[in-house]
Amino acid sequence: MVQFPKIIQGGMGVGVSNWRLSQAVSKLGQLGVVSGTALDQLFVRRLADGDPGGNMRRGVDAFPFPEMARRVWQEYFVPGGRPAGAPYPTTPMHQRRELRKVVELCIVSNFVEVFLAREGHKNDVGINFLEKVQMPHMSSIYGAMLAGVGYVLMGAGIPLHIPGVIDALAAQRPAEYKLSVSGAAQGQDTAMQFDPADYVEGPLPFLKRPRFLAIVSSNTLATTMLRRASGRVDGLVLETPTAGGHNAPPRGKLQLNAAGEPVYGERDQVDLAGLRALGVPFWLAGGYGNAESVRYALEQGATGVQVGTAFAFSEESGLAPDLKQKLLGQAVAGTGDVFTDPLASPTGFPFKVAQMQGSYSDPEVAEARTRVCDLGYLREAYAAPDGVIGYRCAAEPVANFVSKGGKVEETVGRKCLCNALMANIGLAQIRKNGTVEPPLVTVGDDLNTVAQFLAPGRKSYTAADVVKSLLSLSWSVPVEAEALDREPVLAATV
Ligand SMILES: Cc1cc2nc3c(=O)[nH]c(=O)nc-3n(C[C@H](O)[C@H](O)[C@H](O)COP(=O)(O)O)c2cc1C
Repeated sequence: MVQFPKIIQGGMGVGVSNWRLSQAVSKLGQLGVVSGTALDQLFVRRLADGDPGGNMRRGVDAFPFPEMARRVWQEYFVPGGRPAGAPYPTTPMHQRRELRKVVELCIVSNFVEVFLAREGHKNDVGINFLEKVQMPHMSSIYGAMLAGVGYVLMGAGIPLHIPGVIDALAAQRPAEYKLSVSGAAQGQDTAMQFDPADYVEGPLPFLKRPRFLAIVSSNTLATTMLRRASGRVDGLVLETPTAGGHNAPPRGKLQLNAAGEPVYGERDQVDLAGLRALGVPFWLAGGYGNAESVRYALEQGATGVQVGTAFAFSEESGLAPDLKQKLLGQAVAGTGDVFTDPLASPTGFPFKVAQMQGSYSDPEVAEARTRVCDLGYLREAYAAPDGVIGYRCAAEPVANFVSKGGKVEETVGRKCLCNALMANIGLAQIRKNGTVEPPLVTVGDDLNTVAQFLAPGRKSYTAADVVKSLLSLSWSVPVEAEALDREPVLAATV
Protein backbone atom coordinates (compact mmCIF):
# COMPACT_ATOMS: atom_id res chain seq x y z
CA MET A 1 0.00 0.00 0.00
CA VAL A 2 1.23 3.46 -0.83
CA GLN A 3 2.10 5.45 2.26
CA PHE A 4 1.84 9.15 1.76
CA PRO A 5 3.34 11.68 4.15
CA LYS A 6 1.09 13.74 6.40
CA ILE A 7 3.55 16.57 6.25
CA ILE A 8 5.29 17.84 3.19
CA GLN A 9 8.03 20.30 3.98
CA GLY A 10 7.42 22.61 1.03
CA GLY A 11 10.13 23.37 -1.50
CA MET A 12 11.68 26.74 -0.71
CA GLY A 13 13.96 28.34 -3.22
CA VAL A 14 16.63 29.24 -3.65
CA GLY A 15 18.39 26.84 -1.30
CA VAL A 16 16.22 27.52 1.75
CA SER A 17 14.97 23.96 1.61
CA ASN A 18 18.42 22.55 0.99
CA TRP A 19 19.53 18.93 1.32
CA ARG A 20 20.13 19.31 5.06
CA LEU A 21 16.58 20.40 5.84
CA SER A 22 14.99 17.86 3.52
CA GLN A 23 17.11 15.06 4.91
CA ALA A 24 16.09 15.99 8.46
CA VAL A 25 12.38 15.94 7.56
CA SER A 26 12.52 12.77 5.48
CA LYS A 27 14.41 10.96 8.23
CA LEU A 28 11.34 11.50 10.39
CA GLY A 29 9.15 9.73 7.86
CA GLN A 30 7.61 12.91 6.47
CA LEU A 31 8.45 14.31 3.04
CA GLY A 32 11.50 16.54 2.84
CA VAL A 33 11.60 18.49 -0.39
CA VAL A 34 14.71 20.14 -1.77
CA SER A 35 14.27 23.23 -3.85
CA GLY A 36 15.38 22.54 -7.41
CA THR A 37 15.30 26.19 -8.41
CA ALA A 38 18.70 27.48 -9.59
CA LEU A 39 20.48 24.50 -8.04
CA ASP A 40 23.11 24.80 -10.75
CA GLN A 41 23.97 28.30 -9.57
CA LEU A 42 23.89 27.30 -5.93
CA PHE A 43 26.27 24.43 -6.66
CA VAL A 44 28.69 26.71 -8.55
CA ARG A 45 28.80 29.12 -5.61
CA ARG A 46 29.35 26.34 -3.09
CA LEU A 47 32.25 25.11 -5.23
CA ALA A 48 33.60 28.64 -5.60
CA ASP A 49 33.66 28.80 -1.81
CA GLY A 50 35.86 25.71 -1.76
CA ASP A 51 33.05 23.24 -0.87
CA PRO A 52 33.22 23.69 2.91
CA GLY A 53 32.62 20.33 4.60
CA GLY A 54 33.25 18.44 1.37
CA ASN A 55 29.56 17.62 0.87
CA MET A 56 29.45 18.54 -2.81
CA ARG A 57 32.50 16.36 -3.41
CA ARG A 58 30.78 13.41 -1.75
CA GLY A 59 27.77 13.91 -3.99
CA VAL A 60 29.85 14.28 -7.13
CA ASP A 61 31.79 11.12 -6.28
CA ALA A 62 28.51 9.21 -6.23
CA PHE A 63 27.40 10.58 -9.61
CA PRO A 64 27.02 7.70 -12.07
CA PHE A 65 28.74 9.34 -15.07
CA PRO A 66 32.35 9.97 -13.97
CA GLU A 67 33.48 11.90 -17.04
CA MET A 68 30.68 14.41 -16.69
CA ALA A 69 31.34 14.70 -12.96
CA ARG A 70 35.02 15.40 -13.65
CA ARG A 71 34.28 18.11 -16.23
CA VAL A 72 31.87 19.93 -13.93
CA TRP A 73 34.17 19.69 -10.92
CA GLN A 74 37.21 20.91 -12.84
CA GLU A 75 35.35 23.87 -14.24
CA TYR A 76 33.89 25.22 -11.00
CA PHE A 77 35.80 23.99 -7.96
CA VAL A 78 38.08 26.59 -6.37
CA PRO A 79 40.45 24.89 -3.90
CA GLY A 80 40.41 26.83 -0.63
CA GLY A 81 37.62 29.06 -1.92
CA ARG A 82 37.62 32.33 -3.87
CA PRO A 83 39.67 35.20 -2.45
CA ALA A 84 37.82 37.39 0.07
CA GLY A 85 35.79 40.04 -1.71
CA ALA A 86 36.04 38.35 -5.11
CA PRO A 87 32.79 37.95 -7.06
CA TYR A 88 31.26 34.57 -7.73
CA PRO A 89 31.73 33.24 -11.26
CA THR A 90 28.72 33.40 -13.54
CA THR A 91 27.62 30.66 -15.89
CA PRO A 92 26.00 30.96 -19.32
CA MET A 93 22.26 31.58 -18.97
CA HIS A 94 19.68 28.98 -19.91
CA GLN A 95 18.17 29.14 -23.38
CA ARG A 96 16.00 27.02 -25.62
CA ARG A 97 19.01 25.48 -27.34
CA GLU A 98 21.01 24.78 -24.22
CA LEU A 99 24.80 24.61 -24.21
CA ARG A 100 25.99 21.15 -23.26
CA LYS A 101 27.96 22.45 -20.28
CA VAL A 102 24.83 24.14 -18.91
CA VAL A 103 22.86 20.91 -19.19
CA GLU A 104 25.63 18.90 -17.54
CA LEU A 105 25.86 21.34 -14.66
CA CYS A 106 22.11 21.02 -14.12
CA ILE A 107 22.16 17.24 -14.19
CA VAL A 108 25.06 16.99 -11.74
CA SER A 109 23.87 19.69 -9.32
CA ASN A 110 20.35 18.27 -9.10
CA PHE A 111 21.76 14.80 -8.58
CA VAL A 112 24.01 15.99 -5.76
CA GLU A 113 21.27 17.81 -3.83
CA VAL A 114 18.92 14.83 -3.93
CA PHE A 115 21.71 12.34 -3.24
CA LEU A 116 22.71 14.25 -0.09
CA ALA A 117 19.10 14.62 1.06
CA ARG A 118 18.71 10.85 0.76
CA GLU A 119 21.83 9.96 2.71
CA GLY A 120 21.41 8.01 5.96
CA HIS A 121 17.77 6.92 5.60
CA LYS A 122 15.46 4.97 3.32
CA ASN A 123 12.55 7.36 3.01
CA ASP A 124 11.42 9.41 0.04
CA VAL A 125 12.77 12.84 -0.78
CA GLY A 126 11.06 15.26 -3.14
CA ILE A 127 12.24 18.07 -5.38
CA ASN A 128 10.35 21.26 -6.15
CA PHE A 129 10.48 23.39 -9.27
CA LEU A 130 8.72 26.52 -10.42
CA GLU A 131 6.93 25.97 -13.71
CA LYS A 132 7.87 29.52 -14.71
CA VAL A 133 11.57 28.66 -14.70
CA GLN A 134 11.16 26.44 -17.71
CA MET A 135 14.44 25.99 -19.50
CA PRO A 136 16.30 23.93 -16.86
CA HIS A 137 13.34 21.57 -16.25
CA MET A 138 14.29 18.48 -18.20
CA SER A 139 17.97 18.30 -17.27
CA SER A 140 17.16 19.10 -13.64
CA ILE A 141 14.49 16.42 -13.37
CA TYR A 142 16.81 13.92 -15.01
CA GLY A 143 19.59 14.68 -12.51
CA ALA A 144 17.15 14.33 -9.62
CA MET A 145 15.86 11.03 -11.02
CA LEU A 146 19.38 9.68 -11.32
CA ALA A 147 19.62 10.21 -7.56
CA GLY A 148 16.34 8.36 -6.98
CA VAL A 149 14.05 11.28 -6.18
CA GLY A 150 10.69 10.05 -4.91
CA TYR A 151 8.48 13.02 -5.71
CA VAL A 152 8.56 15.94 -8.13
CA LEU A 153 6.40 18.88 -7.07
CA MET A 154 5.73 21.87 -9.25
CA GLY A 155 3.68 25.04 -9.06
CA ALA A 156 3.96 28.73 -10.00
CA GLY A 157 2.36 28.08 -13.36
CA ILE A 158 0.41 25.20 -14.82
CA PRO A 159 2.81 22.28 -15.23
CA LEU A 160 0.72 20.33 -17.73
CA HIS A 161 3.68 18.97 -19.68
CA ILE A 162 5.85 17.82 -16.80
CA PRO A 163 4.22 14.43 -16.09
CA GLY A 164 4.90 13.45 -19.71
CA VAL A 165 8.53 14.53 -19.35
CA ILE A 166 8.86 12.39 -16.24
CA ASP A 167 7.29 9.40 -17.99
CA ALA A 168 9.67 9.76 -20.93
CA LEU A 169 12.75 10.09 -18.73
CA ALA A 170 11.74 7.12 -16.61
CA ALA A 171 11.53 5.07 -19.78
CA GLN A 172 14.91 6.47 -20.95
CA ARG A 173 13.18 7.98 -23.96
CA PRO A 174 13.86 11.46 -25.38
CA ALA A 175 11.70 14.05 -23.67
CA GLU A 176 10.20 17.18 -25.15
CA TYR A 177 8.98 20.30 -23.41
CA LYS A 178 7.19 23.18 -25.08
CA LEU A 179 8.59 26.49 -23.98
CA SER A 180 6.08 29.31 -23.48
CA VAL A 181 7.17 32.03 -25.88
CA SER A 182 5.26 35.28 -25.82
CA GLY A 183 4.42 36.58 -29.26
CA ALA A 184 5.21 33.24 -30.94
CA ALA A 185 3.35 32.67 -34.20
CA GLN A 186 0.70 29.98 -34.28
CA GLY A 187 2.44 26.69 -34.93
CA GLN A 188 5.94 28.07 -34.27
CA ASP A 189 8.23 25.38 -32.94
CA THR A 190 9.16 26.33 -29.38
CA ALA A 191 9.95 22.85 -28.11
CA MET A 192 13.04 21.93 -26.16
CA GLN A 193 14.46 18.42 -26.44
CA PHE A 194 16.37 16.30 -23.98
CA ASP A 195 17.64 12.84 -24.84
CA PRO A 196 19.19 10.91 -21.94
CA ALA A 197 21.21 8.89 -24.45
CA ASP A 198 23.20 12.05 -25.28
CA TYR A 199 24.50 12.25 -21.72
CA VAL A 200 24.66 8.81 -20.25
CA GLU A 201 28.05 7.08 -19.93
CA GLY A 202 27.79 3.31 -20.23
CA PRO A 203 24.50 1.38 -20.22
CA LEU A 204 21.26 3.28 -19.66
CA PRO A 205 20.58 3.22 -15.91
CA PHE A 206 17.27 2.01 -14.48
CA LEU A 207 15.19 4.96 -13.32
CA LYS A 208 12.23 4.80 -10.98
CA ARG A 209 9.38 7.13 -11.92
CA PRO A 210 8.92 9.66 -9.13
CA ARG A 211 5.40 10.64 -8.12
CA PHE A 212 4.26 13.97 -9.49
CA LEU A 213 2.34 16.43 -7.31
CA ALA A 214 0.96 19.57 -8.93
CA ILE A 215 0.76 22.66 -6.74
CA VAL A 216 -2.44 24.48 -7.63
CA SER A 217 -4.48 27.32 -6.22
CA SER A 218 -8.05 26.48 -7.23
CA ASN A 219 -10.47 23.67 -7.96
CA THR A 220 -10.44 24.67 -11.62
CA LEU A 221 -6.70 24.26 -11.88
CA ALA A 222 -6.85 21.01 -9.96
CA THR A 223 -9.34 19.61 -12.46
CA THR A 224 -7.35 20.95 -15.40
CA MET A 225 -4.20 19.25 -14.17
CA LEU A 226 -5.95 15.93 -13.74
CA ARG A 227 -7.73 16.08 -17.09
CA ARG A 228 -5.16 17.61 -19.36
CA ALA A 229 -1.70 16.77 -18.04
CA SER A 230 0.55 14.87 -20.41
CA GLY A 231 1.02 12.01 -17.94
CA ARG A 232 0.02 10.80 -14.49
CA VAL A 233 -0.63 13.32 -11.73
CA ASP A 234 -0.30 11.48 -8.42
CA GLY A 235 -1.69 14.16 -6.17
CA LEU A 236 -2.32 17.83 -5.62
CA VAL A 237 -1.09 20.48 -3.24
CA LEU A 238 -3.74 23.14 -2.82
CA GLU A 239 -1.95 26.34 -1.87
CA THR A 240 -3.83 29.37 -0.61
CA PRO A 241 -2.65 32.99 -0.88
CA THR A 242 -1.37 33.17 2.70
CA ALA A 243 1.54 30.88 1.74
CA GLY A 244 5.14 32.05 1.54
CA GLY A 245 6.80 32.47 -1.85
CA HIS A 246 4.84 33.25 -5.00
CA ASN A 247 1.04 33.32 -4.76
CA ALA A 248 -1.47 32.81 -7.52
CA PRO A 249 -3.02 36.14 -8.51
CA PRO A 250 -6.64 36.68 -7.44
CA ARG A 251 -9.24 35.57 -9.95
CA GLY A 252 -10.83 38.32 -12.00
CA LYS A 253 -9.63 41.90 -12.21
CA LEU A 254 -6.70 42.70 -9.91
CA GLN A 255 -7.76 44.92 -7.02
CA LEU A 256 -5.41 46.25 -4.39
CA ASN A 257 -6.16 47.09 -0.77
CA ALA A 258 -5.08 50.37 0.85
CA ALA A 259 -1.62 48.94 1.52
CA GLY A 260 -1.24 47.95 -2.14
CA GLU A 261 -1.70 44.20 -1.74
CA PRO A 262 -3.89 42.03 -3.99
CA VAL A 263 -7.38 41.48 -2.62
CA TYR A 264 -8.61 37.89 -2.65
CA GLY A 265 -12.34 37.26 -2.61
CA GLU A 266 -14.95 34.55 -2.61
CA ARG A 267 -13.95 33.31 -6.04
CA ASP A 268 -10.55 32.42 -4.64
CA GLN A 269 -12.01 30.16 -1.93
CA VAL A 270 -11.25 26.50 -2.32
CA ASP A 271 -14.14 24.04 -2.34
CA LEU A 272 -12.84 21.13 -0.27
CA ALA A 273 -15.78 18.87 -1.11
CA GLY A 274 -15.02 19.38 -4.79
CA LEU A 275 -11.41 18.59 -4.16
CA ARG A 276 -12.25 15.39 -2.31
CA ALA A 277 -14.49 14.36 -5.19
CA LEU A 278 -11.50 14.37 -7.54
CA GLY A 279 -10.36 11.19 -5.81
CA VAL A 280 -6.64 11.87 -5.63
CA PRO A 281 -4.52 12.49 -2.54
CA PHE A 282 -4.30 16.16 -1.68
CA TRP A 283 -2.39 18.32 0.75
CA LEU A 284 -3.41 21.78 1.95
CA ALA A 285 -0.84 24.58 2.07
CA GLY A 286 -0.73 28.16 3.27
CA GLY A 287 -1.10 28.80 7.00
CA TYR A 288 -1.08 25.13 8.05
CA GLY A 289 1.97 25.49 10.27
CA ASN A 290 0.27 24.57 13.55
CA ALA A 291 -1.19 21.43 15.10
CA GLU A 292 -4.85 22.58 15.00
CA SER A 293 -4.67 23.32 11.27
CA VAL A 294 -3.06 19.98 10.54
CA ARG A 295 -5.84 18.20 12.41
CA TYR A 296 -8.42 20.29 10.56
CA ALA A 297 -6.88 19.41 7.19
CA LEU A 298 -6.93 15.70 8.01
CA GLU A 299 -10.54 15.94 9.19
CA GLN A 300 -11.40 17.54 5.86
CA GLY A 301 -10.10 14.51 4.00
CA ALA A 302 -6.70 15.90 3.10
CA THR A 303 -3.84 13.43 3.05
CA GLY A 304 -1.86 16.06 4.89
CA VAL A 305 -0.45 19.55 4.68
CA GLN A 306 2.45 21.29 3.01
CA VAL A 307 4.27 23.70 5.29
CA GLY A 308 7.00 26.18 4.39
CA THR A 309 7.42 29.17 6.69
CA ALA A 310 7.77 27.11 9.90
CA PHE A 311 10.61 25.10 8.35
CA ALA A 312 12.31 28.13 6.81
CA PHE A 313 13.34 29.27 10.30
CA SER A 314 14.53 25.89 11.55
CA GLU A 315 18.22 25.34 12.27
CA GLU A 316 18.63 23.14 9.21
CA SER A 317 17.26 25.57 6.62
CA GLY A 318 19.56 27.39 4.24
CA LEU A 319 18.33 30.88 5.18
CA ALA A 320 21.36 32.96 6.27
CA PRO A 321 21.72 32.86 10.07
CA ASP A 322 21.58 36.66 10.51
CA LEU A 323 18.33 36.91 8.52
CA LYS A 324 16.88 33.95 10.40
CA GLN A 325 17.70 35.53 13.75
CA LYS A 326 16.33 38.95 12.78
CA LEU A 327 13.04 37.56 11.58
CA LEU A 328 12.73 35.11 14.46
CA GLY A 329 13.26 38.09 16.76
CA GLN A 330 10.42 39.90 14.99
CA ALA A 331 8.23 36.83 15.33
CA VAL A 332 8.90 36.57 19.06
CA ALA A 333 8.08 40.26 19.45
CA GLY A 334 5.02 39.82 17.26
CA THR A 335 6.21 42.59 14.95
CA GLY A 336 6.87 40.57 11.81
CA ASP A 337 5.30 42.30 8.83
CA VAL A 338 4.71 40.50 5.55
CA PHE A 339 3.72 42.37 2.40
CA THR A 340 2.18 40.63 -0.59
CA ASP A 341 3.96 42.53 -3.31
CA PRO A 342 2.05 42.49 -6.58
CA LEU A 343 5.02 43.84 -8.57
CA ALA A 344 8.30 42.56 -7.12
CA SER A 345 8.48 39.28 -9.01
CA PRO A 346 9.30 39.45 -12.72
CA THR A 347 6.93 36.48 -13.13
CA GLY A 348 4.00 38.84 -12.57
CA PHE A 349 2.74 36.67 -9.69
CA PRO A 350 2.28 38.27 -6.27
CA PHE A 351 5.27 37.56 -4.06
CA LYS A 352 5.31 37.60 -0.25
CA VAL A 353 8.06 39.72 1.23
CA ALA A 354 9.17 40.02 4.87
CA GLN A 355 9.66 43.69 5.64
CA MET A 356 13.17 44.22 6.94
CA GLN A 357 15.22 47.36 7.14
CA GLY A 358 18.41 47.17 5.12
CA SER A 359 17.03 44.43 2.87
CA TYR A 360 15.70 44.87 -0.66
CA SER A 361 12.21 45.39 0.85
CA ASP A 362 13.55 48.70 2.13
CA PRO A 363 12.72 51.36 -0.54
CA GLU A 364 16.11 53.05 -0.06
CA VAL A 365 17.97 49.81 -0.73
CA ALA A 366 15.80 49.06 -3.74
CA GLU A 367 16.39 52.55 -5.12
CA ALA A 368 20.15 52.30 -4.66
CA ARG A 369 20.52 48.97 -6.46
CA THR A 370 21.75 49.15 -10.04
CA ARG A 371 19.69 46.94 -12.30
CA VAL A 372 21.60 44.00 -13.72
CA CYS A 373 20.51 40.65 -15.11
CA ASP A 374 23.29 38.07 -14.87
CA LEU A 375 21.51 34.94 -13.68
CA GLY A 376 18.40 35.10 -15.83
CA TYR A 377 16.22 32.32 -14.39
CA LEU A 378 13.08 34.44 -14.54
CA ARG A 379 13.59 35.76 -18.07
CA GLU A 380 10.62 35.15 -20.33
CA ALA A 381 11.14 33.86 -23.82
CA TYR A 382 9.68 36.06 -26.55
CA ALA A 383 9.52 35.88 -30.33
CA ALA A 384 10.86 38.89 -32.21
CA PRO A 385 8.89 39.96 -35.31
CA ASP A 386 11.19 37.76 -37.44
CA GLY A 387 10.33 34.78 -35.23
CA VAL A 388 13.75 34.58 -33.55
CA ILE A 389 13.43 33.67 -29.88
CA GLY A 390 14.97 36.06 -27.36
CA TYR A 391 14.84 36.42 -23.59
CA ARG A 392 13.97 39.37 -21.38
CA CYS A 393 13.31 40.06 -17.71
CA ALA A 394 11.20 42.91 -16.40
CA ALA A 395 13.81 43.44 -13.65
CA GLU A 396 16.73 43.86 -16.05
CA PRO A 397 18.00 47.33 -17.02
CA VAL A 398 14.95 49.14 -18.36
CA ALA A 399 16.52 50.15 -21.68
CA ASN A 400 17.48 46.52 -22.40
CA PHE A 401 14.00 45.28 -21.60
CA VAL A 402 12.38 47.91 -23.82
CA SER A 403 14.83 47.23 -26.65
CA LYS A 404 13.54 43.65 -26.62
CA GLY A 405 9.95 44.75 -27.06
CA GLY A 406 9.07 44.89 -23.37
CA LYS A 407 6.82 47.65 -22.11
CA VAL A 408 8.37 50.22 -19.80
CA GLU A 409 5.39 50.04 -17.42
CA GLU A 410 6.11 46.33 -16.88
CA THR A 411 9.46 47.21 -15.29
CA VAL A 412 8.00 49.34 -12.49
CA GLY A 413 8.61 47.91 -9.03
CA ARG A 414 10.27 44.75 -10.34
CA LYS A 415 13.04 43.26 -8.25
CA CYS A 416 15.86 40.93 -9.21
CA LEU A 417 14.72 37.85 -7.33
CA CYS A 418 17.54 35.73 -8.80
CA ASN A 419 20.24 37.75 -7.07
CA ALA A 420 18.18 38.48 -3.95
CA LEU A 421 17.35 34.85 -3.31
CA MET A 422 21.02 33.89 -3.58
CA ALA A 423 21.75 36.64 -1.04
CA ASN A 424 19.11 35.17 1.30
CA ILE A 425 21.23 32.06 1.76
CA GLY A 426 24.51 33.87 2.28
CA LEU A 427 25.72 33.57 -1.33
CA ALA A 428 25.28 37.19 -2.43
CA GLN A 429 27.09 38.37 -5.52
CA ILE A 430 29.69 41.08 -5.02
CA ARG A 431 29.77 43.72 -7.73
CA LYS A 432 32.87 45.30 -9.27
CA ASN A 433 32.35 48.47 -7.24
CA GLY A 434 32.26 46.40 -4.05
CA THR A 435 28.51 46.57 -3.49
CA VAL A 436 26.83 43.39 -2.33
CA GLU A 437 23.49 42.17 -3.68
CA PRO A 438 20.77 42.69 -1.03
CA PRO A 439 18.51 39.91 0.29
CA LEU A 440 14.73 39.83 -0.09
CA VAL A 441 13.20 37.22 2.19
CA THR A 442 9.90 35.59 1.37
CA VAL A 443 7.75 34.14 4.16
CA GLY A 444 4.10 33.35 4.67
CA ASP A 445 1.57 35.63 6.32
CA ASP A 446 1.97 33.51 9.46
CA LEU A 447 5.52 34.66 10.16
CA ASN A 448 4.75 35.65 13.75
CA THR A 449 3.40 32.21 14.63
CA VAL A 450 6.80 30.53 14.23
CA ALA A 451 7.68 31.71 17.76
CA GLN A 452 5.54 28.75 18.95
CA PHE A 453 8.36 26.34 18.06
CA LEU A 454 10.89 27.98 20.38
CA ALA A 455 11.20 26.16 23.69
CA PRO A 456 11.48 28.48 26.72
CA GLY A 457 14.91 30.10 26.79
CA ARG A 458 15.82 28.82 23.32
CA LYS A 459 16.76 31.02 20.37
CA SER A 460 16.40 28.36 17.71
CA TYR A 461 14.42 25.24 16.87
CA THR A 462 14.92 22.22 14.63
CA ALA A 463 12.91 20.67 11.82
CA ALA A 464 12.08 17.82 14.22
CA ASP A 465 10.58 20.34 16.67
CA VAL A 466 8.29 21.52 13.87
CA VAL A 467 7.27 18.02 12.79
CA LYS A 468 6.54 16.92 16.36
CA SER A 469 4.54 20.01 17.08
CA LEU A 470 2.52 19.84 13.86
CA LEU A 471 1.56 16.22 14.46
CA SER A 472 0.90 16.58 18.16
CA LEU A 473 -2.87 16.65 17.79
CA SER A 474 -3.06 14.16 14.96
CA TRP A 475 -0.93 11.30 16.17
CA SER A 476 -0.50 9.83 19.58
CA VAL A 477 2.55 7.94 18.37
CA PRO A 478 5.91 9.66 18.82
CA VAL A 479 7.10 10.93 15.47
CA GLU A 480 10.44 9.08 15.48
CA ALA A 481 8.66 5.76 15.88
CA GLU A 482 6.72 6.53 12.75
CA ALA A 483 9.75 6.88 10.52
CA LEU A 484 8.85 4.55 7.73
CA ASP A 485 11.18 1.68 7.16
CA ARG A 486 10.49 1.26 3.48
CA GLU A 487 12.50 -0.48 0.85
CA PRO A 488 15.20 1.86 -0.39
CA VAL A 489 14.17 3.63 -3.55
CA LEU A 490 16.36 2.12 -6.23
CA ALA A 491 19.00 4.71 -6.88
CA ALA A 492 19.58 4.66 -10.54
CA THR A 493 23.28 4.24 -10.36
CA VAL A 494 24.60 1.48 -12.52
C1 LIG B 1 11.15 30.95 1.99
C2 LIG B 1 10.10 30.32 1.11
C3 LIG B 1 10.43 30.00 -0.20
C4 LIG B 1 9.49 29.34 -1.00
N1 LIG B 1 9.85 28.95 -2.25
C5 LIG B 1 9.03 28.17 -2.98
C6 LIG B 1 9.47 27.61 -4.21
O1 LIG B 1 10.61 27.81 -4.64
N2 LIG B 1 8.58 26.83 -4.89
C7 LIG B 1 7.32 26.57 -4.42
O2 LIG B 1 6.56 25.85 -5.08
N3 LIG B 1 6.88 27.09 -3.26
C8 LIG B 1 7.72 27.86 -2.52
N4 LIG B 1 7.31 28.31 -1.29
C9 LIG B 1 6.01 27.86 -0.77
C10 LIG B 1 6.16 26.61 0.13
O3 LIG B 1 6.62 25.50 -0.59
C11 LIG B 1 4.84 26.25 0.83
O4 LIG B 1 3.88 25.84 -0.08
C12 LIG B 1 4.29 27.40 1.62
O5 LIG B 1 5.31 28.00 2.36
C13 LIG B 1 3.17 26.92 2.55
O6 LIG B 1 2.62 27.97 3.27
P1 LIG B 1 3.21 28.50 4.67
O7 LIG B 1 4.36 29.37 4.30
O8 LIG B 1 2.07 29.26 5.26
O9 LIG B 1 3.61 27.32 5.47
C14 LIG B 1 8.21 29.03 -0.50
C15 LIG B 1 7.89 29.40 0.82
C16 LIG B 1 8.81 30.04 1.62
C17 LIG B 1 8.45 30.40 3.02
